[in-house]
Amino acid sequence: MKVLIIGSGGREHAIADAFSRSSKTKEIIVSPGNAGMAEVFRCLLLAGQDEIVQFCHAEKVDMVFIGPEQPIKDGLSDLLRAEGIRVLAPSQDAGRLETSKAFAKQLMLANQIPTAGYSLLRDESQAREFLAKCSYPIVLKADGLAAGKGVIICSNEPEAIQACASLFRQSAGESGVLAEEYLQGWEVSLFAFCDKDAFQTSLFAQDYKQLYDQDRGPNTGGMGAVCPVPEAEKYRQEIEDKILAPVLKAMRELGCPYEGILYLGLMITAQGPRVVEFNCRFGDPETQALLPLLKTDFMELCLAITEGRMKELQLEWINKTAVAVVLAAPGYPSAYKKGIKIHIPQLNSKVFFSGVQSGRSGLISSGGRVLTVTNMADTLEKAKTAVYRDIKSIDFPDNVYRKDIGLRKNVLP
Ligand code: AMP
Ligand code: GLY
Repeated sequence: MKVLIIGSGGREHAIADAFSRSSKTKEIIVSPGNAGMAEVFRCLLLAGQDEIVQFCHAEKVDMVFIGPEQPIKDGLSDLLRAEGIRVLAPSQDAGRLETSKAFAKQLMLANQIPTAGYSLLRDESQAREFLAKCSYPIVLKADGLAAGKGVIICSNEPEAIQACASLFRQSAGESGVLAEEYLQGWEVSLFAFCDKDAFQTSLFAQDYKQLYDQDRGPNTGGMGAVCPVPEAEKYRQEIEDKILAPVLKAMRELGCPYEGILYLGLMITAQGPRVVEFNCRFGDPETQALLPLLKTDFMELCLAITEGRMKELQLEWINKTAVAVVLAAPGYPSAYKKGIKIHIPQLNSKVFFSGVQSGRSGLISSGGRVLTVTNMADTLEKAKTAVYRDIKSIDFPDNVYRKDIGLRKNVLP
């Protein structure tokens, strides 16, 4: 099989790496990919949906794997299906579970799916009235895609009024701003591999979102991940029965069955698991910790999704723990330095590239999050030791990374 992966980050590099371990995969192409991936995989820039379709026909691509959410929102999966090209991604309509938080919330409310209570604020005057009466802290979210910048936790009314004004500016054209009850607990991510009728879940993974150790500092796109998360296992059945099964049934009943990978962001609270968000794709950086542990042939898994064979598929995982640490450019997540030379010696860990390009004599940084280093070992402690040892031997001046990825705080407050 010949696969085209759409995307350019560490997640897509981990997806390409998983395909490269699949005996059913003969050729891997990434658009646009990046200079780090291009050392191993064929990367090229296909600008726009029409060029992707033409390329797939001309090169006889057997499957397109869409990494990020934006092309799904833009309708790429629907167009590919209409052209008879196999695609691993939900339709634009099914992708609304991520692309419209208002849609996801309404669906959860209508189907008694456990999540934070919410109100949809349609304009600023309705918002002022609501914010004068609600209890604090309150969580405010833009309705549409906001590239990780759409959630503000506010501890009082003046803060909330200000946050709301900025979210209304961002959500122009969308349904408005969501005000959500603040959930207390610990967070975990789970992926469901869904065909139109059946699903199976992945190992649990955990993302470290803040810039500094002990979850301090600004929010980022994710500074590292660990997989699996044994403390979450006792909630798996409840999550499958009370969240996944009813959501997927509701999507079928709405006429937009979900086919693809569904990401569940969960808060484990004293009352049980609650949905924080859905994403219509793999997570970043969780994927860089999850996929190296996949034992099942990745193409076989993708074929089972697109051919409606999820019920029968034997999904197997390597019995190890993976720790993935992101190396960012100095200044990230604000304005960051670019053009820093990077040299990576031969390592025991895997390296997944995101913000890199070719310089005169090798790779240079070009993004905020630059690369992820992942190590897998028999125990969490061994994986942590190995990953941090490997990071020390990478030559990437002034890079920023967390020293506590893998630290577990999975206890209820
Ligand atoms: P989201 O983009 O919806 O995943 O939100 C980003 C992050 O904000 C989450 O990973 C949580 O850490 C936090 N968050 C979102 N919603 C809530 C909530 N209702 N209560 C507490 N924290 C939240
Ligand atoms: N790890 C969070 C995300 O991919 O949205």
